[in-house]
Amino acid sequence: MGEPVSQTPPSESGGGFKRGMWSSRTGFILAAAGSAIGLGNIWKFPYIAGVNGGGAFVLIYLVAIVLVGYPIMLAELVIGRNTQASPVVAFGKLAGPESKWKMLGWLGVLTGFIILSYYSVVAGWALNYVLMSVCDFLSNKSPEQISSLFDKLYVAGDINLFWHTLFMLLTIGIVFGGVKKGIERWARILMPMLFLIMLILVARVVFLPGFVRGVSFVFAPNFDKLTAAGVLEAVGHAFFTLSLGMGAMLTYGSYLSKKTDLVKASAVVCSLDLIIALMSCLIIFPIVFSFGFEPDQGPGLVFKTIPVVLSQIAGGELLAILFFLLLAFAALTSSISLLEVVTSHFIDSFGWSRKKATLIPGLLILLFGIPSALAGGGGLFSSWESIVGKNFFDTVDYLATNWMLPLGGILIAIFIGWFAPLERIKDEFQTGSKFKHIFIVWLWAIRVIVPIVMVVVLLYKVRILDL
Ligand code: PFF
Repeated sequence: MGEPVSQTPPSESGGGFKRGMWSSRTGFILAAAGSAIGLGNIWKFPYIAGVNGGGAFVLIYLVAIVLVGYPIMLAELVIGRNTQASPVVAFGKLAGPESKWKMLGWLGVLTGFIILSYYSVVAGWALNYVLMSVCDFLSNKSPEQISSLFDKLYVAGDINLFWHTLFMLLTIGIVFGGVKKGIERWARILMPMLFLIMLILVARVVFLPGFVRGVSFVFAPNFDKLTAAGVLEAVGHAFFTLSLGMGAMLTYGSYLSKKTDLVKASAVVCSLDLIIALMSCLIIFPIVFSFGFEPDQGPGLVFKTIPVVLSQIAGGELLAILFFLLLAFAALTSSISLLEVVTSHFIDSFGWSRKKATLIPGLLILLFGIPSALAGGGGLFSSWESIVGKNFFDTVDYLATNWMLPLGGILIAIFIGWFAPLERIKDEFQTGSKFKHIFIVWLWAIRVIVPIVMVVVLLYKVRILDL
C-alpha cells in the first residue's frame, strides 16, 4: 500500500517499539485508526446516542470532533513526533525535567489503566458472541429471544470474568512481544474486512421497514431530549473515540517519520473513525425500529440488535462469526494502544524491561477489571450501585470518559498553546506538511477555542453554569 518512508534513527530510550517503527505512511494511518476505531465506535457510540435521543447528540458530537478532537489529535502528534518519547518524558522534554507538566503524562497513564480495565470486559462480550455464533446458538430464535441473550450474559459474572481474563492475556501477550509487524499486517487485512461486513449490513437494513425512522433518529436533531449531561458525554466521547487526552496518539506520533503530513494524517484518522461510528448507527437504529426495540437500551444495544438481523439473512451465521470476531479484533488494536501507553511509560521513566513493564501493569489492570466484569451480576462490590448510583463498570467508564480524558485534553491544549516553545511546535507542525498556513488557525483553536469549549462544558457539568 503506502510507499516506505525514511526511518528516524532508533533511540535506545525505546518505549514501545523501536523509534521510527511505522513501515510506511499507511502503516501509521492503520495503527492510529486501529487505536481510534474500536468498541467506542461500534458498541458505545450507538448506545449513548440512543440514550441521549439520537440526532441532536450526534450533531454535538460532530461539532466536538471538528472543534476539539481534530486540533487535539494534531497537538498530540506534534508533541509525540517532536519529542520521540512517551508522555511523561515528552512533557519533560518540552517543559523541563522538573516541570509540573509531567503530571499530565501521569494522568494519561492512570486513565489508560482505568479504561483498559473495563474495555476488556466489553471486548469479552464480543468474544462470547463469537462462540455463540460458532455454536449456532443464535439461529432458530425469535428477535426477542436473541436480544434477551445479552441480559443473561450481562449478569453472568463468571463468564464475563473468563472472557475478560482471556482478552487481557491476549493484549498483554501482544504488547509483551512488541507490536511490530504483526498487528500492522493484520490490521491491513482485518480492518477493511470489518468495513466490508458493515457495508453488507447497511445494504441489508436499507430494506427493513424501520430504515427511514432509524436514519431520521440518527440525523434529525431533536434538542428536547438533549441534557447537559448528554453534551458532556458527547464531548467526552469525542476524546474516547479518537483515543485522545491520555497520550495514546502522542505515543503513536513518537514513532512517526518527519515526512508524514500531520495535518492530513489527523484528518484521515478522524474521518475514518467518524465513518465507522455513523455506519454503526445506520445499521443499529433501523433494526431497533423495525423490531420494536427501544433505542435507549444501554450497553447491550449492539449485541441485542445486530444478531437479530444476521439471523434473518442467508449466510448470517458466518457473517455473525466474522462480525464479532472483527469487533474483537478492532477492540484489540485499541486495547494494545491503551496498554502501550502504560508500558512505554514504565520503560521510559523507570528503565523497566519491556517484559516487566507489560506484565506487572497488565496483570494489575486485569485485577482492577474484576469488579467491572462482575458488575452486572452484583458480584463483587454488590452494594456499590446503591452507594455510588452507578455500578462499578459504569462508574469507571463515566469517570474516565467524562472527566479524565477531557481534563487531559484541555491541559494538553493549554500546555501546547501557551507554555510549549512556540517555534519548535510551529516547526514540527509544518514539517512534511502541505498545509503550513493552517498552523495559525490551529494555534488559535488550541489556545482559545478548545479551552473555552471545554471549560464551559465542565462548568456546565458541575452545575456552576446553567445554560
Ligand atoms: N478509541 C478507542 C475506541 O473508540 O474504542 C478507545 C480508546 C483507545 C480510548 C485508546 C483511548 C485510548 F487511548
